[in-house]
Amino acid sequence: MQTRKLGTTGPRTSALGLGCMGMSALYGPTDRAESIATIHAALEAGVTLLDTGDFYGMGHNELLINEALRTAPPARREQALTSVKFGALRTVEGGFTGYDGRPEAVKNFAAYSLQRLGTDHIDIYRLARLDPAVPIEETVGAVAELVKAGHVRHVGLSEVGAHTIRRAASVAPVSDLQIEYSLISRGIEEQILPVCRELGIGITAYGVLSRGLISGHFSRERELAPGDFRGMSPRFSGENLDRNLALVEALRRVADGKGITVAQTATAWVLSRGEDIVPLVGARTRERLAESLSAVDVTLDADDLEAIEQAVPADSASGDRYPEAQMAHLDSEK
Ligand SMILES: NC(=O)c1ccc[n+]([C@@H]2O[C@H](COP(=O)([O-])OP(=O)(O)OC[C@H]3O[C@@H](n4cnc5c(N)ncnc54)[C@H](OP(=O)(O)O)[C@@H]3O)[C@@H](O)[C@H]2O)c1
Repeated sequence: MQTRKLGTTGPRTSALGLGCMGMSALYGPTDRAESIATIHAALEAGVTLLDTGDFYGMGHNELLINEALRTAPPARREQALTSVKFGALRTVEGGFTGYDGRPEAVKNFAAYSLQRLGTDHIDIYRLARLDPAVPIEETVGAVAELVKAGHVRHVGLSEVGAHTIRRAASVAPVSDLQIEYSLISRGIEEQILPVCRELGIGITAYGVLSRGLISGHFSRERELAPGDFRGMSPRFSGENLDRNLALVEALRRVADGKGITVAQTATAWVLSRGEDIVPLVGARTRERLAESLSAVDVTLDADDLEAIEQAVPADSASGDRYPEAQMAHLDSEK
């Protein structure tokens, strides 16, 4: 597995990370044994970055990672880096009621995460969404104190815009910004990516397959379980879905021409955008993982990139990347 460095101050990680969210929440039923086997297969393939959030399944995802790390070969376990998001407030029924970035809350979230993960530190710790009631300097300052105390190694950010990135970076070194970036979500290119590059902050890109929409495996016939994020996503609804799937078919023609899959093409495209970008693979099964990890071996030359651009031009997606209420929490979209 190739490696990449996250920002000037962050850790060196595998060129692709594993995002574990879908193993606990948001994409329908999960299979614990297959989830653990997928994490083990990723570690075995050289993936070192495991991304989670304390609110993914309300602790479920961290406990899953705990079990996977405990049962992994020691050499693999020692190489693993944990990237954890915090701050989301939840209800018993699973609803999201806001975000809490107060310093005392940050330290409380971290204490619980360390216990659930069964590790003595978290490698990258980040607020999932900006808490509008708390200046980012205070939240980042609290994470920096956790770094000083040895409980956290690096400060990360998630879904914040250029102005907030600058404010955060004025308080402590920031390793990476985690943000959605894919062929059909290129919003970061205008302001956010240049600011990260100026400040030496890496990117962990999520949603590189737009939650499966541009994986080549999604179709209108796909039945979604109640609560599946995609059932509420504007990009997966009505005519938007038809238009977006037409883009996927155009991309499939390019992929077929290269003898690779649509998912590999979409992931390789994100990899091609810069050495400072580490895409997160959201695989929930070993089969999907193997497909996505092969993207590191794909080389896209100028002709390939031009053909991909023709198939899926910038701004060609139909629909916002989140439902309206969730878009309101994205500092990155303001
Ligand atoms: N910071 C943030 O705000 C934020 C937000 C969301 C996610 N994340 C992180 O980013 C990670 C990745 O996000 P994501 O899961 O939305 O990413 P994604 O890669 O866009 O979507 C993953 C989904 O795509 C489908 N898929 C089809 N073919 C695949 C293949 N070859 N490899 C992988 N998946 C394939 C799978 O759904 P089926 O299994 O149903 O086919 C899978 O659950 C998450 O696990 C989480 O750690 C961060």
